Amino acid sequence: MASSMLSRQLAFSLQKSLWLSAPGCRYVSKTATKTQMEFDYDGPSMKTSVPGPRSQELTKQLGEMQNVGAINFFCNYEESRGNYLVDVDGNRMLDLYTQISSVPIGYNHPALLKLMSNPHNLSTFVNRPALGILPPENFPDKISESLLSVAPSGMSRVQTMACGSCSNENAFKSMFIWYRNKERGHNTPSDKDLSSCMINQAPGCPNLSILSFMGSFHGRTMGCLATTHSKAIHKLDIPSFDWPIARFPRLQYPLEEFTRENLQEESRCLEEVEDLIVKWRQKGKPVAGIVVEPIQAEGGDNHASVDFFRSLRNITRKHGCAFHVDEVQTGGGTTGKFWAHEHWGMDDPADVVSFSKKLLTGGYFQKDELQADKPYRIFNTWMGDPSKNLFLAEVLNVIRRENLLEEVTRSGKALLNGLYELQTQHPDILSRARGQGTFCAVDICDDATRNRILLKTRDKGVILGACGDRSVRFRPSLVFKEYHVHIFLNIFNDVLAQLK
Ligand SMILES: Cc1ncc(COP(=O)(O)O)c(C=O)c1O
Repeated sequence: MASSMLSRQLAFSLQKSLWLSAPGCRYVSKTATKTQMEFDYDGPSMKTSVPGPRSQELTKQLGEMQNVGAINFFCNYEESRGNYLVDVDGNRMLDLYTQISSVPIGYNHPALLKLMSNPHNLSTFVNRPALGILPPENFPDKISESLLSVAPSGMSRVQTMACGSCSNENAFKSMFIWYRNKERGHNTPSDKDLSSCMINQAPGCPNLSILSFMGSFHGRTMGCLATTHSKAIHKLDIPSFDWPIARFPRLQYPLEEFTRENLQEESRCLEEVEDLIVKWRQKGKPVAGIVVEPIQAEGGDNHASVDFFRSLRNITRKHGCAFHVDEVQTGGGTTGKFWAHEHWGMDDPADVVSFSKKLLTGGYFQKDELQADKPYRIFNTWMGDPSKNLFLAEVLNVIRRENLLEEVTRSGKALLNGLYELQTQHPDILSRARGQGTFCAVDICDDATRNRILLKTRDKGVILGACGDRSVRFRPSLVFKEYHVHIFLNIFNDVLAQLK
């Protein structure tokens, strides 16, 4: 064991000096010590361009059964470790996109493998219960150990669900039920409510709305889709609701040079939110809730200031709407705090906080008063999966034990500084480097160049994601350390240099 560790460390330092002396490598990477992470590989290793021949063959085979237009390549999950995703052609890539930002502590983490091999956990993996009616004995304990131990400020209730969309979809329903009960002054529906809802008519199906923001992404199910405004392809041909959509701030960078402009931009957006709330009330479609991402992710990594979110929260209080913070992509530690909304420093940041991805289970936290008043109003067959709560409890142990939020802050700083530096060296290609923790992004001069960069970087062994019209997003797992940042920056610099 010790000798294999030693040879891996040796191979790593050798490889590192090779990267630094490779032709075209002008980015001067600072030395960063590799800390103990035995389950990780030492660096990328490429055998073919990606997708390689085996991936292409499998894509063709699957293409006979499904639409495969979105498939990048096929993976070998057995061989993948830590920050490295291995494909079926034997290519090993440093993964900064991590299954659309959903891998909390890397591939095949030993702590999670150990959990799987514990015979006491077997029945949790083998039997998937209908949690809403027949939960296992340890369910309350496991929920307390996992989700409730990271409950956002002011929230002691949590509802598990399967994915991000179904979490948001049910959170919207909770907000509508809460709003109607508030309007009624009690929670007993009238006969008219009960009969009209059966034929999709008011008052049983009331004309209420949810306010969302241009550029937002909250999922692809029908209700969520009415609040998603990132790309037309998600929405095309699907009927939707007449719900208000406000502009989300479009900040100018570097922030310190555009303080006044950005303040004005945010004020304009906040004014629009209030105008829309009033307009929709006058239209007879009151806004029951506002939904927002702390950082608009899929829509292009659009940030707003702490003051913007605090003001938005105040607007919801003033107008009696619920405030739903969608942390499906930002939650789980990637911004350097467990929840991105913690950066706002508020005791009462939201009424509802939804999650999925890095938390492995979907679901949402809510204030007591938002919990639905009767059974079966918020319900489905599985309502989550207890095996995911087991994994999550262990992920949280690893995050605490290994101080991963501090690591994320450290690696995030190195990543952003590296991007600033590369942006200065390649001003014709890169702009608007931005981020919080490792949740970073940079804009590329145009969409075609962005896509070229993504493919070239992947062929050199680094997986990145796209977002918005022309941004590249970085979504590594929480075990992404400073030395991984430098591996990435050196490769990225090579790619940028070769574009010229
Ligand atoms: C902020 C946000 N909300 C909701 C969703 C939908 O989650 P899912 O794809 O699990 O349905 C996503 C997915 O990317 C997301 O980023």
